[in-house]
Parts: sequence; C-alpha cells; structure tokens
Amino acid sequence: MTRLALLLTSFLLVASFGCTQKKEESTSSPAEKSSSKKELIVGTDAAYAPFESENADKTLSGFDIEIMQAVAAKAGLQIQIVNTPWEGLFNQLNSGDRDILISAITINEERKKSMDFSDPYFEAVQLIAVPNKSTVTKFEDLKKLKVGVQIGTTGDSVVTQLLGRDSSSIKRFEGTPLALQELINGGVDAVVADNGVINNFFANNPKNFKVLSDTSFSKEVYGIAVKKGNTELLQKINSGLSQIKADGTYDNIYRKYFGEKKN
Ligand code: ARG
Repeated sequence: MTRLALLLTSFLLVASFGCTQKKEESTSSPAEKSSSKKELIVGTDAAYAPFESENADKTLSGFDIEIMQAVAAKAGLQIQIVNTPWEGLFNQLNSGDRDILISAITINEERKKSMDFSDPYFEAVQLIAVPNKSTVTKFEDLKKLKVGVQIGTTGDSVVTQLLGRDSSSIKRFEGTPLALQELINGGVDAVVADNGVINNFFANNPKNFKVLSDTSFSKEVYGIAVKKGNTELLQKINSGLSQIKADGTYDNIYRKYFGEKKN
C-alpha cells in the first residue's frame, strides 16, 4: 500500500468531525513556568476518530480531547495534549513522560494493576466490520477468517480469545486506521474494534461494508488514566468529570459526536 493511500485514508477517517484544539504556545521561560502552575502532559493515540484525531495542521480534535479540556478547565489543571503512539502509551505514565492518558482506554483488571483510572466517562462495546457481501453473521464465524485488530486493544483480546494467541489469522496493526485500511484493501476479512470507531468508519464507507454486533461481547467503559498512586491528580480529574456531567457540558460534547444520548 502506498504512503499516499495511507495518508488519504487516515485523513478520510479523521476528517468527519470538526472541533479543533489549538496547541497553546507557552511564552513563559522555564523559570517562570516552574513558579507558575505545572503544565500536565496528556497522552493520546490520536488515530481513533471520533475520539481523538490529528488534523492536517497537527492540532488534535475529538470527543476525548473536548472531554479532557472541559475536565481540566473545571479541575483547574493546565494541560497540553500530545499525540502519542498506542504502543508504549501506558508505559509513559510510569516513566513520567505523560501525566495523564485519555485515549478511549477501556478500564480492565489487567490495566488497573499498572495504572489508576478515573470514574468511567464512556460506555463502549466491540463491533465487527465486514465487507457487505461477507457471509459472517456472528463473532464465531470469524474462526476461519483473517481478522484485523489494533495491537494490545480490547478488540485484540477478544479476537485472541477466539482464534488463539499465536493464530496466523490475526493481523495486529499499530493503529486502528491501518487495520481498517487493510479491510478496504481486502487483506483481512473483518476488523474488530470499539463501536464508536467502527460506526464512524461505516459512516464514511456506507456502501461496501456492514457492521455486526455479537452478544458475546461484554460492556466496556473508558477511563482517564494516571500513574498508579497519583490520587491527588485522580481526585481532581474525578471532580472535573462529575462537574461536567452535572452542568450539561458532558452531554453537549456527547451530542456533538454521537447524537442524542440513549441512556
Ligand atoms: N478501548 C480499546 C482499548 O482500550 C481501544 C482503545 C484504542 N484507543 C486509541 N486511541 N487507539 O483497548
């Protein structure tokens, strides 16, 4: 696949939603900075529309970006959101390179061992994207097929459970857009990923694909992550979250990206 095709696809995948975060250029000197409030670095894998995307001008936009900014504003936190590859993202909390992660991260027991999560801010579930003419009707049907996932995601986990860790039928990609591009190219028969992202893909490619759900997929919730033990920061984030849920800010952002709230 050519670089251009890749670029074009990622652009198409991210282009559908419009809000923009201008990176705030800091004009203060390092000394001034340390005397004023510390800017917290937030990591996100911004190749996950409609949650986080990088625009052509390198600014970031999406549901998570707006939620994070709104939470930070309420909690009095100064933040800079930095595009950070998914692989290695979790390690960046421990190394101190990132203070906070928001990246459509599903809270699960495994991850709770190495980082702390905020209260849930979004409900999700896995979905399957297949070509229109595919005979697949349920998750089990993927057993005989090539399946694309983003490495280390919950989509990867469910497919790994079905096909086995070392199955050569699982194609693991660094980013979900790459997996979806491979579906377009016909290199995989299906992609399993979070509903928000699969639905967004389908909205941009309605003619050639269909989306399937499966009762075996359990409900997931997203959380904002901080370094294990950083309760002070976590409390501030939770307080910001509950404030934006209480005053309608959360609902406004939700509606902008997903339409009327179902629950
Ligand atoms: N919710 C899934 C997980 O936590 C996928 C998240 C991928 N996020 C991203 N920005 N690429 O495993």
